[in-house]
Amino acid sequence: MQSKLAQLVIFIYLVTLCIPTMSYKVEPLPDSYAGLGEGPHWDVARQSLYFVDLEAGCLLRYDYRQNKTYRTQIEGETFATFVLPVEGNDQEFAVGCGRRVVIVNWDGVSPVAKVVRTLFEVQSDFKENRLNDAKADPKGRLFFGTMRYVGDEFTHRHGELYRWEAGGNVTVVKSDVGISNGLAWDEKANKFYYIDTTDYEVKSYDYDFKTGVASNPKVIYNLRKDSPKTHILPDGMTIDTEGNLYVATFNGSTIYKVNPNTGECLLEIKLPTKQITSVAFGGPNLDILYVTTASKFDQPAPAGTTYKVTGLNAKGYPGVNLKL
Ligand SMILES: *[C@@H]1O[C@H](CO)[C@@H](O)[C@H](O)[C@H]1NC(C)=O
Ligand SMILES: *[C@@H]1O[C@H](CO)[C@@H](O)[C@H](O)[C@H]1NC(C)=O
Ligand SMILES: *[C@@H]1O[C@H](CO)[C@@H](O)[C@H](O)[C@H]1NC(C)=O
Repeated sequence: MQSKLAQLVIFIYLVTLCIPTMSYKVEPLPDSYAGLGEGPHWDVARQSLYFVDLEAGCLLRYDYRQNKTYRTQIEGETFATFVLPVEGNDQEFAVGCGRRVVIVNWDGVSPVAKVVRTLFEVQSDFKENRLNDAKADPKGRLFFGTMRYVGDEFTHRHGELYRWEAGGNVTVVKSDVGISNGLAWDEKANKFYYIDTTDYEVKSYDYDFKTGVASNPKVIYNLRKDSPKTHILPDGMTIDTEGNLYVATFNGSTIYKVNPNTGECLLEIKLPTKQITSVAFGGPNLDILYVTTASKFDQPAPAGTTYKVTGLNAKGYPGVNLKL
């Protein structure tokens, strides 16, 4: 029979185990500056984080083993809005350039990269629009959106969200979009999560992984309660293996870890700069959260630095390559 004292010791031990002792660490990646860092994507094969310097038309690659960042300018292009490795070809990447999705050839080292062909263009008549964030769903289908980049995206909602898969056509998933952003999928829960920054919220959709069709949108996290008064704008997003979302906030210095089932904020991850643009898990154990930032509107240093956050006690999924 256990003594009262032994029971008490076990009780204290269990209580201590359940207290979330969250001591995460935020560190910059070397030479990782981007005026508008976006689209972080972890590539398992190369143990590298790919991301873009959007308004400079540049691609970056942080090599984990070398602890070194490589940067390339895409010849003749103004924008590089996302970068996704093409499945089965280690020199080719799908990149958003203006309103075109193009294939860029890059060896991951050279300071100059070239567009080798255009896959397609969207919204040809909307000269003031450009592509924005994009990801491949777990089956390799491309989801990508647009936004207006001249004038006010909040009042002129000319953006759209699209789906494309090899051999098919571009399908509109959603119109009436201000700034198309954060994309995440949960195969266990059959969900797709989406952010239109100008709505100040995160939406969930029921997702059919066989067809790529998203339906039944619901608001699962609302930042409007703070914004527009405080201008905290939800931007990029990722998901961990437990199904929790990590929502980057432009102008908010914070990544919100959110349980999409309850809408509860589980953790606020604080960064030393305001414009947090996107997040992706990576590293050999997929337990490092990589974070891109921006230095728009004259934000002082360290704005634009790309960070790694460790000690979160969470794991994510590797980036999915695009199937062509
Ligand atoms: C990576 O390089 C930076 C800059 O030289 C250094 O501060 C950091 O400690 C290095 N990180 C690792 C994991 O080696
Ligand atoms: C793509 O669109 C064209 C023209 O509208 C149509 O003929 C073709 O069947 C479509 N292909 C697919 C795979 O949906
Ligand atoms: C950032 O927030 C401040 C208030 O905290 C606001 O004055 C400013 O307009 C916001 N910037 C953007 C780009 O929304």
